[in-house]
Amino acid sequence: MKQRILTGDRPTGPLYLGHDVGSLRNRVALQHDYETYVLLADVQALTDNFEHPQKVRANVMEVALDELAVGLDPEVATFVLQSQVPEIAELTVLYLNLVTVSHLRQNPTVKTEIAQKGYGESVPAGFFVYPVSQAADITAFGAHLVPVGEDQLPMIEQTAEIVRRFNRLYAPVLTEPRALLGEVARLPGLDGKTKMSKSLGNAIFLSDPPDEVACKVRGMYTDPNHLRVEAPGTVEGNPVFAYLDAFDPDRAGVAALKAHYRRGGLGDVRVKRHLLEATLAPIRARRAEFARHRGDVERVVREGTGRGREVAAETMRAVRQAMRLDYFGPS
Ligand code: TRP
Repeated sequence: MKQRILTGDRPTGPLYLGHDVGSLRNRVALQHDYETYVLLADVQALTDNFEHPQKVRANVMEVALDELAVGLDPEVATFVLQSQVPEIAELTVLYLNLVTVSHLRQNPTVKTEIAQKGYGESVPAGFFVYPVSQAADITAFGAHLVPVGEDQLPMIEQTAEIVRRFNRLYAPVLTEPRALLGEVARLPGLDGKTKMSKSLGNAIFLSDPPDEVACKVRGMYTDPNHLRVEAPGTVEGNPVFAYLDAFDPDRAGVAALKAHYRRGGLGDVRVKRHLLEATLAPIRARRAEFARHRGDVERVVREGTGRGREVAAETMRAVRQAMRLDYFGPS
């Protein structure tokens, strides 16, 4: 039997190229070797967006389209809508007994987010405990591997702790997951200086119209010392190449471009055109194609959620049995 992968995204806005790119690439690369579940984590999105349910709802489809655009195959990967899997909420409540408030307070990622959002002591309890619900996400599907960005490592660690505690206390029924970090940790922004982020306004969105992507790529920072086409250029720290590394499936082609650039004789304009036409255009075209068939995508999510729920229900049965909660026989 294949091992399982679970990945998740909060549908709070459209994905952009910098979004957990290592994770996105790993998901696509591994979808055939692992049984892959892609969680549209709308309940987690609500933990800091509970006043904006419409925003979360609208973005579920957008994020599903983004996932499909980068190459997740709906015939292979199972898309699961978190709010429609009540077993995840059930597991969350049971796991909450296995963690302490002081331990949750030390979660570096949540700590940073609390500071960024200015919550202080008024942090909503749901948000504060979201690492526990993420442990429920991961264990409900019995995931062995979780492709993530670095900021998510504390969540996988928290999950592993809950799993070990649960298995020791009750019965060894939960799978301990491992994090899988991407090779491309973080994309630089279009300005080359900072990381790409939505709030810094230096991001390319998967849903950007073609002329906007073209305009952004044309204005992109490259090697500032590469003034003449014939001169050798620097690939390291050059955003254009970072984007090619992250998104161009033709590894040999990218290696050849790099060699040429280093040698000299390859201009920025041509590398950018390659990024635009060979790398990004197919992603955009795929997204547009799926967007034209929204009904089909909705069906992918509906059916995937059904299959996902069966897996989660199986975990739930084992958990209920382990915790002596299996009162009325097998459900
Ligand atoms: N916390 C993740 C994020 O910031 C989203 C997420 C929810 C997730 N559930 C998950 C990631 C399970 C990996 C596994 O976007």
